[in-house]
Amino acid sequence: MIVVTGAAGFVGFHICRALLAAGADVDGLDSLNAYYDVRLKHKRLEILNAKQGFRFIHCDISKPAEVRAAVDTNAIEVIIHLAAQAGVRHSIEAPFAYEEANLRGHLSMLELARAAPRLSHMLYASSSSVYGDRAEGPFRETDRCDHPNSLYAATKRSCELLSESYSRLYGIKQYGLRFFTIYGPWGRPDMAYWLFSEAICEGRPVQLFGEGLLRRDFTFVGDVAPAILAMTTQAPGDDAPHEIFNLGNSKTSSVLDLIGVIERNIGRTVPHILAPAQPGDVTSTCADITRARARFGFDPRVGIDVGIPQFLDWFKHYRQNID
Ligand SMILES: NC(=O)c1ccc[n+]([C@@H]2O[C@H](COP(=O)([O-])OP(=O)(O)OC[C@H]3O[C@@H](n4cnc5c(N)ncnc54)[C@H](O)[C@@H]3O)[C@@H](O)[C@H]2O)c1
Repeated sequence: MIVVTGAAGFVGFHICRALLAAGADVDGLDSLNAYYDVRLKHKRLEILNAKQGFRFIHCDISKPAEVRAAVDTNAIEVIIHLAAQAGVRHSIEAPFAYEEANLRGHLSMLELARAAPRLSHMLYASSSSVYGDRAEGPFRETDRCDHPNSLYAATKRSCELLSESYSRLYGIKQYGLRFFTIYGPWGRPDMAYWLFSEAICEGRPVQLFGEGLLRRDFTFVGDVAPAILAMTTQAPGDDAPHEIFNLGNSKTSSVLDLIGVIERNIGRTVPHILAPAQPGDVTSTCADITRARARFGFDPRVGIDVGIPQFLDWFKHYRQNID
């Protein structure tokens, strides 16, 4: 059995769906927090609950006793830990939510891993934000990551260090996944591509932080899922029991490029309000994916010109049916 935390979240939903399609038994954990519209989480769960092999467990992963009471530790083979308080900007307003979900939550999952006698290995979500504010890319896993630009980034880097210590202390094998701006159908309402799409659909102006010049390595969720599935079946070797992988597209686009794709697809342009970068924002992200490509055949192929229209097809349909 595979435990997936954050199963009702964007990435967790896609990973559960891919695992179930491959015939896995999945226990999906989520607290269904209200960081964004919970109806979207329930809609994702409706789809997962209809599949054979899926069991939803409503629990707070930062409470170790709650997790231990809900999950059969003897049955766990792999843990995919994706639950977190996401979002760079929100970490400025609600720092303790990040301490609880990300630090305590991560430690709680490491303790679950320690208590699971049949566990092969654990995967967990980290983030490109650990690389800090650097104009130069691409970012390599071997680069130093000592200057987080936000509390969110600091918690994600801390998770990597907690994992390293549990790997050394208890031999828990792990892959840390540094995700680079993942987007796609069933995506996140707090992220720029969603907010811009919503504004453009409604004919409202869009606000461009960093004057639209910030660059991101936009990564289509459908490109990431196969690599994660491959990682569940191949445990880390004894020579590298805890290894970190960049999962990004490896091409960067500016926020203005992103808006251009959305405007062309929707067939409407809106005024652009240029605003300074926000605290926590980084100038640019770009993944070097040599490691994940070599180990797991990670091969991202979907650029924003193809992936954003796929998101928009889903988004328009979702908006019509949610109320
Ligand atoms: N989407 C991206 O671009 C991106 C980029 C970098 C890193 N990440 C990381 O990937 C992971 C998945 O992100 P996502 O985009 O799917 O975000 P998401 O917010 O859609 O999903 C996270 C899920 O975790 C759940 N959760 C939060 N705290 C919890 C707790 N204490 N107990 C149980 N469940 C809890 C939430 O309810 C949510 O459903 C996160 O760890 C995030 O930090 C995502």
